Amino acid sequence: MEALLRAHGITRRYGPGCALCLDSTGADAGTNRCPTCGSVWACRDVSLELRAEEALGIVGESGSGKSTLVKLLHFDDPATSGYLELARLRQLEGIGGIYADGCDWSRDLFSMDRYRQRRVRDASMGIVYQHPHLGLRMGVSSGGNVAERLLSAGWRSIGAMRQRASHLLERTEIPLSRMDEPPRNFSGGMQQRVQIAKALSGDPPILLLDEVSTGLDLSVQARVLDMIRTLREELRLSMVVVSHDLGVIHLLCQRTMVMKNGQVVESGLTDQILQDPQHGYTQLLVASQLQ
Ligand SMILES: Nc1ncnc2c1ncn2[C@@H]1O[C@H](COP(=O)(O)OP(=O)(O)OP(=O)(O)O)[C@@H](O)[C@H]1O
Ligand SMILES: [Mg+2]
Ligand SMILES: [Zn+2]
Repeated sequence: MEALLRAHGITRRYGPGCALCLDSTGADAGTNRCPTCGSVWACRDVSLELRAEEALGIVGESGSGKSTLVKLLHFDDPATSGYLELARLRQLEGIGGIYADGCDWSRDLFSMDRYRQRRVRDASMGIVYQHPHLGLRMGVSSGGNVAERLLSAGWRSIGAMRQRASHLLERTEIPLSRMDEPPRNFSGGMQQRVQIAKALSGDPPILLLDEVSTGLDLSVQARVLDMIRTLREELRLSMVVVSHDLGVIHLLCQRTMVMKNGQVVESGLTDQILQDPQHGYTQLLVASQLQ
């Protein structure tokens, strides 16, 4: 399968860094925080490839760097080092020739200016944040939240935006009677569904999902996951799925990466990782969640 997105050795360090950092942090060191200078290595030398129409799982304990990784991929947070490439996508060709430079792969997206980054991102990715307040304006109507995204993508007709917003909210099972209500009135599950509607508004080929069903009641969680599976098939999405829950990863993802203290300790086919985990940390993770 063809790759859509490739990340090479991406790293995010919070803090100044020092000569002792690399030896005293990471999966083997058992911490992501350097005892000498206090820097946190939230993501360290992470490489990944997202293929067309696949869901790639990222799993790991709290603090292992999953959300940081997703934010780096979405340019919300600048990487300390590493680079990111995006395949030339059919869907991108209509939007003003960002990729009209004739190469099959973009140059490093991290080194593009903010304006270009935003355009590439808006055309190629949607994101659902772990914390809904990062993805939604809680006081603005749900329809307005989706419309805002359309507006920044160049839509101008209020009627057309309203129609598109109601279509998307309907797809994500938000009753249309509640379209004019702000997300702060909604349950956690509904807020995540508004985030999904917003993420899908630009018809992006790539969806980044950070703990999309965590903290929801089991029945609500099952419905959200089922909806994501249906959307993935119908819209032929490629997804990065972050979860600390192996059950979610198992349900959605063909391939999986396991993170610990900012580093990838194991990656491969999800079934193989669950049946025959190689790294001690993955073995612990699998054993603890099977009980
Ligand atoms: N802005 C920041 N400044 C300093 N450290 C940060 C910052 N953001 C994240 N970190 C640290 O980076 C590490 C990775 O955090 P991250 O949120 O990516 O973990 P996570 O795997 O998503 O955890 P969880 O499962 O709890 O969501 C943590 O040690 C966190 O404290
Ligand atoms: Mg997180
Ligand atoms: Zn250090």
